[in-house]
Amino acid sequence: ITVDPTKQGAAIDDTMYGLFLEDINRAADGGLYAELVQNRSFEYSTVDNRAYTSLTSWDVDGSATVVNDDGRLHANNRNYAQVAAGTTLANSGYNSGLSLRSGAKYDFSVWARAEAGTTLTLTLKDAGGALATVRHQTVKGGWKQYRATFTATRTTTTGRLAVGSTGAAALDEVSLFPRDTYRKQPGGLRKDLAEKLAALKPGFLRFPGGCLVNTGSMADYSETSGWQRARSYQWKDTIGPVEQRATNANFWGYNQSYGLGYYEYFRFAEDVGAMPLPVVPALVTGCGQNRAVVDDALLKRHIQDTLDLIEFANGPVTSTWGRKRAEMGHPGPFGLTHVQVGNEENLPREFFERFTKFRSAIEAKYPGITVVSNSGPAASGATFDTLWQLNRDAGVAMVDEHYYNSPRWFLENNQRYDSYDRSGPKVFLGEYASQGNTFGNGLAEAAFMTGLERNADIVKLASYAPVLANEDYVQWRPDLIWFNNRASWGSANYEVQKLFMNNVGDRVVPSEATSTPSVSGPISGAVGLSTWATAASFDDVRVTAADGRTLLTDDFSGPASAWTHTGGGSWAVQDGQYAQRDVGAANTTVTAGDRAWRDYDLRVTATKQAGA
Ligand code: AHR
Repeated sequence: ITVDPTKQGAAIDDTMYGLFLEDINRAADGGLYAELVQNRSFEYSTVDNRAYTSLTSWDVDGSATVVNDDGRLHANNRNYAQVAAGTTLANSGYNSGLSLRSGAKYDFSVWARAEAGTTLTLTLKDAGGALATVRHQTVKGGWKQYRATFTATRTTTTGRLAVGSTGAAALDEVSLFPRDTYRKQPGGLRKDLAEKLAALKPGFLRFPGGCLVNTGSMADYSETSGWQRARSYQWKDTIGPVEQRATNANFWGYNQSYGLGYYEYFRFAEDVGAMPLPVVPALVTGCGQNRAVVDDALLKRHIQDTLDLIEFANGPVTSTWGRKRAEMGHPGPFGLTHVQVGNEENLPREFFERFTKFRSAIEAKYPGITVVSNSGPAASGATFDTLWQLNRDAGVAMVDEHYYNSPRWFLENNQRYDSYDRSGPKVFLGEYASQGNTFGNGLAEAAFMTGLERNADIVKLASYAPVLANEDYVQWRPDLIWFNNRASWGSANYEVQKLFMNNVGDRVVPSEATSTPSVSGPISGAVGLSTWATAASFDDVRVTAADGRTLLTDDFSGPASAWTHTGGGSWAVQDGQYAQRDVGAANTTVTAGDRAWRDYDLRVTATKQAGA
């Protein structure tokens, strides 16, 4: 490799590497949004997921009915629970239950309507008994919010929140948040996850989807019922007091509360110093639905909503939507500069016709805003070519590309952008990942990212996807950061992103290589160690190459195998240090928390020693 430090290559923008957040794999509800209660407003329905009822994740001791009538708390919050005297409802949260830490404070709230003299008893408990209890007298009258703070007296990962009532009562929006959220924001984000995201130092934040945005009915909440409740993500549903936000069927098969809504996304972007980049639906549904919505009035309404979104983000407090932002706690503007219209469009002409209308309206009212288009769901092909041509011909400023491919593809396509037309739209690589979370995948992505950076004059923004996955609710893998109700851990791919995102250069220094490494043979050193594991032991080790080939298996029943391992962690075997001992005679022991048996990737590089 020859490097010429006297020459200057492309300038690299500080915003080059960013984050794409979508509520997939319970990334928001059950993840980044720190709410511990699942189905807090009794809105779950078979529309979200066939297995759901309005009492999913609630245990009823006594009698409770979920009611949808005019006595509701708010027009956007259709259901509430009507409990009989002496009934207790207990919520099991996500994963194995509520994860509560001894000595930590938790903020509880519930909306209730009950007879005078009714006592509500709130208890944090697990199978071992109560961790904290609070009592409340209720008064006669309409809906009223009751709040309490608990301090957990024990640590548990199987907690329940119980709400008991001595009299008949209507209950809604039952909520429990750890006090210790990210930046201590009430109703805010789960600290460990938000900190892992912040540690990436993202240059931008693309949100809220993905398929979440451009699927389902494009109708609004007041017009939808039954199956139509599965509607596109519309930002106005997601702001204001949480008990007044609609919930919605999430494209990924669950219910989304919108507790993490547009205001919270904007605020998080600001907190981590990232440029906000929202995506709005273009009235062409994608992600397998592939249908163009033909309804002029609806299209106009969505275009107006997008203009209102810009006002919500940037408008003065005297404007209609700027005032709403100020009422939520942020009088100053959020500094929105980019808006993306559409995601992964499969119907190029139908999309482009609608995109053009959005773009004209936005540019007429807000000439400083960059309107981002897209090139469909694949890295190449007829749709991709047509969309690129349409975007080029129309002089679009920036086009979003997506691809999920094998590590080999990423190695072989390092030069992808070397030949892109410099006079056309800039590239926003809004979603990409090689298929896997092994070290080899991270390595292939790192290699590919050098090609992005070399072409930083044309590739302006890039974000890995998806970012978050709750290990018990996975719709898509691989993912950047994994978690359950009590812990989170970054993948090898996360470390690669962190390396690049924390070290964005100012300029490319041109270099030349005399040859390109061959990718036709095995990708040496690119192995992942995958095993079935419990808290105490692991067995049946399989080492796979990044391309999925099995390199070795060992169930520790045969002759002794010798291993070394590199990297940190608290590895141990039953009789001593992992690296020095034979592990063939007995199963080794690894400290892996209190996970249940399941297949998961361990982020280590394991080497079988010569002759073993
Ligand atoms: O990142 C997961 C999904 O992949 C996104 O929702 C979609 O845009 C793409 O198909």
